Amino acid sequence: MRIAPSILSADFAALGEAIARVEAAGADQLHIDVMDGHFVPNLTIGPPVIESIRKRTRLPLDVHLMIEEPERWVETYVKAGADYLTIHVEACPHLERALSLIREAGAKSGVALNPATAPEVLEYVLDDLDLVLVMSVNPGFGGQSFIPTAYEKIRRLRALLGSRDVLVSVDGGVKVDNAGPLARAGATVLVAGSSVFGASDPGAAVAALRRASEVAKSA
Ligand code: DX5
Ligand code: ZN
Repeated sequence: MRIAPSILSADFAALGEAIARVEAAGADQLHIDVMDGHFVPNLTIGPPVIESIRKRTRLPLDVHLMIEEPERWVETYVKAGADYLTIHVEACPHLERALSLIREAGAKSGVALNPATAPEVLEYVLDDLDLVLVMSVNPGFGGQSFIPTAYEKIRRLRALLGSRDVLVSVDGGVKVDNAGPLARAGATVLVAGSSVFGASDPGAAVAALRRASEVAKSA
């Protein structure tokens, strides 16, 4: 299981320290939420902040674009430092082309699915994917409640992916209590914002998520 703290719930005025704490605690990748105020109602950060983060950490940057027309921005975000670049299928009618652009730009390609989107939309791009992000909340804000239909979606996605080497990431409302069931359903990346950066000790929260997911898997 990979643990991917989402900086959305960190103190943006002390981002460097927040990142250092989760990196020291063994986080596997850093999840960065980019919102444009159009595809989702909220607005966050863009390429300059990602460039600064890139210089501060060795962790792979898992950049989640919640923006309209994401294909126009692929090169910019890969240049800024994205290792994984994830776009929303709902924002992207020419998905196959957008995914090729991401790989050509030198990053790993990801697609995010909103809670109402069926995993079968990916049926004809399965070989173009390095990561699928299952949204277990409607994107836009941290701290929302987990929508349990994500479990079945993850199981269906796993069946669809077969033996392909694709990460299955889950984002939204991930906490110690659902980490185990998510691991059993087939998730391989847990994205967690408020349950990590809202905790008094974010490092301990990373370790607790990992333990919960691993205990469940070996049970
Ligand atoms: C929500 C973002 C998430 C967010 C999750 O739109 O995509 O990455 O940070 O936050 P929590 O873990 O608090 O639900
Ligand atoms: Zn996210």
